[in-house]
Amino acid sequence: MSTTFNVPATIVTGAGASRELAPQLARLGARRVLFVTDAFMEKSGLAARFIRELKQGGIDVVLFAGVQPDPTDENVRAGLRAYVAGKCDAIVALGGGSSIDAAKSIAILTTNAEPLSQYQGYHQVPRAGAPLVVIPTTAGTGSEVTKVAVITDTARDVKMMMLDRHLLPTVALVDYELTLSMPPALTAHVGVDTLTHGIEAYVSRKATALTDPLALACIRLVAEHLETAWREPQNHAAREGMMLAATLGGMAFANSSVALVHGMSRPIGAVFHVPHGLSNAMLLPVVTRFSLPGAESRYAVVARTMKLCDAGIADADAARALISGLERLNTSLQIPRIREAHGVEQASFEKALSKMADDALASGSPANNPVVPTAGEIIRLYQEAW
Ligand SMILES: [Fe+2]
Repeated sequence: MSTTFNVPATIVTGAGASRELAPQLARLGARRVLFVTDAFMEKSGLAARFIRELKQGGIDVVLFAGVQPDPTDENVRAGLRAYVAGKCDAIVALGGGSSIDAAKSIAILTTNAEPLSQYQGYHQVPRAGAPLVVIPTTAGTGSEVTKVAVITDTARDVKMMMLDRHLLPTVALVDYELTLSMPPALTAHVGVDTLTHGIEAYVSRKATALTDPLALACIRLVAEHLETAWREPQNHAAREGMMLAATLGGMAFANSSVALVHGMSRPIGAVFHVPHGLSNAMLLPVVTRFSLPGAESRYAVVARTMKLCDAGIADADAARALISGLERLNTSLQIPRIREAHGVEQASFEKALSKMADDALASGSPANNPVVPTAGEIIRLYQEAW
């Protein structure tokens, strides 16, 4: 059986990679760009630094700093209006997964009709959009190298997952120096998200010969660097390791698909606004235990790659070591349980269970899991993770 592998045409990595912004846009022939970011990046002065560099490089900028966490279809529409009104010819995204996903969605709507919801699912986008250069500031969602965007559909209260090669950024500038100021909690959340990408890409039913090495490299880097990056924010080696892990994990999961953790995580985000990385982290140990019987030898490889057990032990023991290793990691990074998350009441959680299970299944991700769950099993897993 053949498989397809897509990544951005250009990926620039290493310290200072983001200084390539103006030259890369010039190479693409851009003259006037929509600069997509959020209020935090605007306030921090980082957006201004890049905008200055662009103007010095002879490129006009229209700033759109209206992306909210868990970006919505309304954010995308507002960004599109700014693009059209500003007569832009390319897009830049600066920020975490929210800004990058919003920018990808704006980019495809410059050449494809609204509404965005018609592109939900797999391979639904007919035409390539505006050229897009992305600069991630977290490590990370991996969004800088994926053909995936997740946007909340405000009418249905659903996080829409769109996967299509036309959502790929044209250029990704992966500069770990931009992550040195990430606070510890964010480092932990997006770091475990990265680990989840590596693990889910590796155990996915759609894993391929090209995604396996990327997934394992991602997992190894997270095991080596996440706790150090969390404890020592200014540790360059740890930050660089996590940035590379995020990018490798992104390349892996976008081409082999995420699975049950992500499938169950999105509805928690949509209903209770728990950040994406955090809701993944809350689910990862519980869902991994459920999924073990479907891919024991693969989970054993994950445990050995993370050095959670001796290389020579049996698969069943290695897989068990993985579960306790993931639980220990959550504890040491101070990941709360769902019941401890801000704004999640037990009664409303119980009430939402059946909608969340249905939305998880409808996303398609659980079908890639080593063990494909029923709606009832998903509800029980949510309750276990509570
Ligand atoms: Fe993720």
